[in-house]
Amino acid sequence: MNNSDSKKQAVARAAIDFVEYDDVIGVGTGSTVDFFIDFLKPLKNKISGTVASSLSTQQKLEANGIRVLDLNDVSDIPIYIDGADEVNNNLQLIKGGGGALTREKIIAGASKKFLCIVDDSKIVDILGKFPLPIEVLPMARSYVAREIIRYKGMPALREGFITDNSNIILDVNHLEIMEPITLEKELNQIAGVVTVGLFAERGADKVLVSSDNDIIELNK
Ligand code: 5RP
Repeated sequence: MNNSDSKKQAVARAAIDFVEYDDVIGVGTGSTVDFFIDFLKPLKNKISGTVASSLSTQQKLEANGIRVLDLNDVSDIPIYIDGADEVNNNLQLIKGGGGALTREKIIAGASKKFLCIVDDSKIVDILGKFPLPIEVLPMARSYVAREIIRYKGMPALREGFITDNSNIILDVNHLEIMEPITLEKELNQIAGVVTVGLFAERGADKVLVSSDNDIIELNK
């Protein structure tokens, strides 16, 4: 296992301390979360179930015998556990590298607490070096791309990728995001945008960060 994977595995293991018996757990998407699912497996009969943020997460949970519930059948999700592509000092995030941003944002919004698990390569001063993923209705692709250029971003179609919701992703390069909440709100207003991968208005409540030596906790 390479160093990056070891750090992802370590932080995923640490997240298990935040899983309470009988809770429904919101489960994110990505390689860090895949490690988390491995550690969740032994607890599968202690929790009420999970809500999955993507079809791939749902498949992995089910393959491990972990109960997956429909979000519509769940009224209380005490904790949502997910990775991120970038995290700033205010615990605002860029997400969507795996293309699951829409369902991730829905479950983050529906959950009481959002615990984000990352390795230290994801911590930044200013969001935007990682291309900002935006999920877009296919027929609005060109229009949304033109609108984004007005924000000095360079949108690129994620080739060969269709989301779980049958939409496309535009990855926006060259954004230096000085005001994440404002940008998130403004991009959300563009007709045809389904979800912006900026989790600023509802960022994480707590971030666990793994480095070579230890795991630290960042709190709001
Ligand atoms: C998926 C995401 C992931 O959380 C993000 O891409 C981080 O992934 P990884 O844990 O593989 O580094 O937002 O849409």
